[in-house]
Amino acid sequence: MEQLNPENIPQHIAIIMDGNGRWAKTKGRLRVFGHETGVKSVREALEGAMHIGVKYLTLYAFSSENWNRPRFEINALMGLLVDSLKKELPTFHKNQVKLHAIGDLSQLPKRCYNKLQETMEETSHYTTCTLTLALSYGSRQELVNVTRRLAEKVKQGELSVDDINEQTIQQDLDTHFIPDPDLLIRTGGEQRISNFMLWQMAYTEMVFLDIMWPEFHREHLYESILEYQQRERRFGKISEQL
Ligand code: FPP
Repeated sequence: MEQLNPENIPQHIAIIMDGNGRWAKTKGRLRVFGHETGVKSVREALEGAMHIGVKYLTLYAFSSENWNRPRFEINALMGLLVDSLKKELPTFHKNQVKLHAIGDLSQLPKRCYNKLQETMEETSHYTTCTLTLALSYGSRQELVNVTRRLAEKVKQGELSVDDINEQTIQQDLDTHFIPDPDLLIRTGGEQRISNFMLWQMAYTEMVFLDIMWPEFHREHLYESILEYQQRERRFGKISEQL
């Protein structure tokens, strides 16, 4: 952490928390044990991020494709989410963390949806750090929804086709309230985006870690940021123009 340049801390970090199931299997345990242990890593990531002044942290907690998993695992994940929200509320208050969520929240079980809404309302006035949970989220679906809404506005005569630009799309994404991620971290050894913030990650730096999510500690966060700080973000320009 001492090696980090405090002038170049990413404003927004997104994380794909992968490898819970495989980690549990290596321990001879059920996949759910991996998710349970993964909650500790969520805390490590949040505390680590807050400690160095990261303003936005977005976690891919449940993808739209995850609904295809066995019912037992889905229920366990939803239960873990409710428990974690209950347990972490004092931390959110203490550190002034605003909780947000993106995705098709209407698909969530009622108890999960209610707890989420309640926690979001209770923390809505905080501005120190915004923690966004992607739940029942799929980026292609998000883009389909944006397209439908814009098409509807055109049909109703509220918008002209010529007025559709990057900004109109940006403003209609689930993530309209947060800047694009500067850094994506994915654990679990796979090197792919898996339908996560496809539009938003056009210029995001990516770091892939070979550890499984339950093994993630704040040092891994700092290592990833160090790697980010060594990259040159050119946004399509050449070095001399920066
Ligand atoms: C991916 O591992 C992880 C998930 C699908 C869920 C992540 C959820 C948590 C860490 C717990 C709850 C979250 C919060 C925000 C409190 P995987 O099961 O796909 O792993 P595998 O690739 O080894 O199968």
